[in-house]
Amino acid sequence: MWTQQEQQELTQILKKYPADRKMSAVLPALYLAQREKNWLTDEDIEAVAEALDISPTHVHSVIGFYTLFRKEPTGKYLIQVCTDLPCALRGAEAFYQRLCQRLGLSPPGGTTADGLFTVEEVVCIAACDKAPCAQINLEYYENLTDEQMDGVIEQLRKQG
Ligand code: FES
Repeated sequence: MWTQQEQQELTQILKKYPADRKMSAVLPALYLAQREKNWLTDEDIEAVAEALDISPTHVHSVIGFYTLFRKEPTGKYLIQVCTDLPCALRGAEAFYQRLCQRLGLSPPGGTTADGLFTVEEVVCIAACDKAPCAQINLEYYENLTDEQMDGVIEQLRKQG
Protein backbone atom coordinates (compact mmCIF):
# COMPACT_ATOMS: atom_id res chain seq x y z
CA MET A 1 0.00 0.00 0.00
CA TRP A 2 2.92 2.33 0.60
CA THR A 3 4.13 4.16 -2.45
CA GLN A 4 7.86 4.14 -3.08
CA GLN A 5 8.08 7.69 -1.73
CA GLU A 6 6.09 6.81 1.37
CA GLN A 7 8.19 3.72 1.94
CA GLN A 8 11.30 5.90 1.92
CA GLU A 9 9.70 8.34 4.34
CA LEU A 10 8.59 5.49 6.58
CA THR A 11 12.14 4.17 6.64
CA GLN A 12 13.35 7.63 7.71
CA ILE A 13 10.69 7.80 10.42
CA LEU A 14 11.65 4.38 11.77
CA LYS A 15 15.31 5.39 11.98
CA LYS A 16 14.35 7.84 14.72
CA TYR A 17 13.30 5.02 17.06
CA PRO A 18 15.16 2.06 18.56
CA ALA A 19 14.55 -1.12 16.55
CA ASP A 20 12.76 -2.72 19.51
CA ARG A 21 10.53 0.35 19.98
CA LYS A 22 9.07 0.68 16.51
CA MET A 23 5.60 1.02 17.96
CA SER A 24 6.60 4.51 19.14
CA ALA A 25 6.40 5.60 15.50
CA VAL A 26 2.68 4.89 15.30
CA LEU A 27 1.58 8.55 15.10
CA PRO A 28 3.95 9.67 12.30
CA ALA A 29 3.31 6.39 10.46
CA LEU A 30 -0.45 6.94 10.63
CA TYR A 31 -0.03 10.53 9.54
CA LEU A 32 1.97 9.33 6.55
CA ALA A 33 -0.60 6.64 5.71
CA GLN A 34 -3.43 9.18 5.84
CA ARG A 35 -1.68 12.06 4.10
CA GLU A 36 -2.60 11.37 0.49
CA LYS A 37 -6.33 10.66 0.71
CA ASN A 38 -7.17 12.20 4.11
CA TRP A 39 -8.46 9.02 5.73
CA LEU A 40 -7.34 5.52 6.66
CA THR A 41 -8.60 2.29 5.12
CA ASP A 42 -8.34 -1.09 6.84
CA GLU A 43 -5.50 -1.81 4.42
CA ASP A 44 -3.65 1.30 5.63
CA ILE A 45 -4.13 0.27 9.24
CA GLU A 46 -2.83 -3.22 8.56
CA ALA A 47 0.17 -1.80 6.71
CA VAL A 48 1.02 0.45 9.65
CA ALA A 49 0.62 -2.45 12.06
CA GLU A 50 2.87 -4.65 9.94
CA ALA A 51 5.52 -1.94 9.59
CA LEU A 52 5.63 -1.40 13.34
CA ASP A 53 5.29 -5.06 14.40
CA ILE A 54 2.11 -4.41 16.35
CA SER A 55 -1.43 -5.67 15.98
CA PRO A 56 -4.06 -3.88 13.87
CA THR A 57 -6.12 -3.72 17.08
CA HIS A 58 -3.39 -1.65 18.70
CA VAL A 59 -3.38 0.72 15.73
CA HIS A 60 -7.18 0.98 15.87
CA SER A 61 -6.97 1.89 19.55
CA VAL A 62 -4.59 4.75 18.77
CA ILE A 63 -6.81 6.01 15.95
CA GLY A 64 -9.79 5.94 18.28
CA PHE A 65 -7.99 8.25 20.68
CA TYR A 66 -6.99 10.93 18.15
CA THR A 67 -9.76 12.75 16.32
CA LEU A 68 -7.42 13.85 13.53
CA PHE A 69 -7.17 10.29 12.24
CA ARG A 70 -10.21 9.40 10.20
CA LYS A 71 -11.60 5.99 9.32
CA GLU A 72 -14.47 7.20 7.14
CA PRO A 73 -14.04 8.27 3.52
CA THR A 74 -13.11 11.94 3.63
CA GLY A 75 -12.77 14.54 0.93
CA LYS A 76 -9.41 15.83 -0.11
CA TYR A 77 -10.29 19.02 1.74
CA LEU A 78 -11.81 18.62 5.19
CA ILE A 79 -13.73 21.77 6.10
CA GLN A 80 -14.47 21.92 9.82
CA VAL A 81 -16.66 24.81 10.89
CA CYS A 82 -17.00 25.63 14.58
CA THR A 83 -20.64 26.01 15.57
CA ASP A 84 -20.05 25.91 19.31
CA LEU A 85 -21.95 28.47 21.38
CA PRO A 86 -19.59 31.49 21.18
CA CYS A 87 -19.33 31.06 17.41
CA ALA A 88 -23.07 30.39 17.10
CA LEU A 89 -23.64 33.78 18.73
CA ARG A 90 -21.67 35.28 15.84
CA GLY A 91 -23.74 33.53 13.17
CA ALA A 92 -21.71 30.35 12.69
CA GLU A 93 -24.71 28.02 12.50
CA ALA A 94 -26.35 29.95 9.69
CA PHE A 95 -22.97 30.29 7.97
CA TYR A 96 -22.54 26.51 8.20
CA GLN A 97 -26.02 25.83 6.80
CA ARG A 98 -25.35 28.11 3.84
CA LEU A 99 -21.98 26.46 3.21
CA CYS A 100 -23.61 23.02 3.14
CA GLN A 101 -26.28 24.29 0.76
CA ARG A 102 -23.73 25.80 -1.63
CA LEU A 103 -21.81 22.52 -1.73
CA GLY A 104 -25.02 20.55 -2.33
CA LEU A 105 -24.89 18.88 1.08
CA SER A 106 -27.59 18.57 3.70
CA PRO A 107 -26.74 19.40 7.29
CA PRO A 108 -25.12 17.81 9.25
CA GLY A 109 -22.70 17.84 6.31
CA GLY A 110 -20.88 15.09 4.46
CA THR A 111 -18.74 14.69 1.38
CA THR A 112 -19.38 16.20 -2.04
CA ALA A 113 -20.08 13.81 -4.92
CA ASP A 114 -16.70 14.60 -6.50
CA GLY A 115 -14.93 13.60 -3.28
CA LEU A 116 -13.23 16.96 -3.04
CA PHE A 117 -14.82 18.39 0.12
CA THR A 118 -15.98 16.97 3.41
CA VAL A 119 -17.82 19.43 5.60
CA GLU A 120 -18.53 18.96 9.28
CA GLU A 121 -19.35 20.91 12.41
CA VAL A 122 -16.83 20.90 15.23
CA VAL A 123 -16.65 22.35 18.71
CA CYS A 124 -14.29 25.09 19.77
CA ILE A 125 -11.14 25.45 17.69
CA ALA A 126 -9.89 28.34 19.82
CA ALA A 127 -10.81 31.17 17.48
CA CYS A 128 -14.04 32.13 19.28
CA ASP A 129 -13.59 35.87 18.76
CA LYS A 130 -13.09 35.42 15.02
CA ALA A 131 -16.24 33.52 14.11
CA PRO A 132 -17.39 32.34 11.73
CA CYS A 133 -14.19 30.33 11.63
CA ALA A 134 -13.10 27.08 10.08
CA GLN A 135 -10.16 24.78 9.66
CA ILE A 136 -9.51 23.39 6.22
CA ASN A 137 -7.03 20.53 6.49
CA LEU A 138 -6.02 22.19 9.77
CA GLU A 139 -5.33 25.62 8.25
CA TYR A 140 -7.28 28.37 9.99
CA TYR A 141 -9.77 30.67 8.25
CA GLU A 142 -11.28 33.37 10.44
CA ASN A 143 -13.93 36.11 10.30
CA LEU A 144 -15.36 34.32 7.29
CA THR A 145 -18.11 35.66 5.08
CA ASP A 146 -20.02 33.63 2.51
CA GLU A 147 -18.14 35.45 -0.24
CA GLN A 148 -14.75 34.67 1.29
CA MET A 149 -15.69 31.04 1.72
CA ASP A 150 -16.82 30.86 -1.90
CA GLY A 151 -13.43 32.25 -2.92
CA VAL A 152 -11.59 29.66 -0.81
CA ILE A 153 -13.68 26.82 -2.26
CA GLU A 154 -13.11 28.08 -5.78
CA GLN A 155 -9.37 28.24 -5.15
CA LEU A 156 -9.31 24.71 -3.75
CA ARG A 157 -11.35 23.45 -6.71
CA LYS A 158 -8.74 24.89 -9.05
CA GLN A 159 -5.99 23.13 -7.10
CA GLY A 160 -8.01 19.92 -7.43
S1 FES B 1 -16.44 28.42 20.18
FE1 FES B 1 -15.93 28.43 18.07
S2 FES B 1 -13.79 28.69 18.08
FE2 FES B 1 -14.30 28.67 20.16
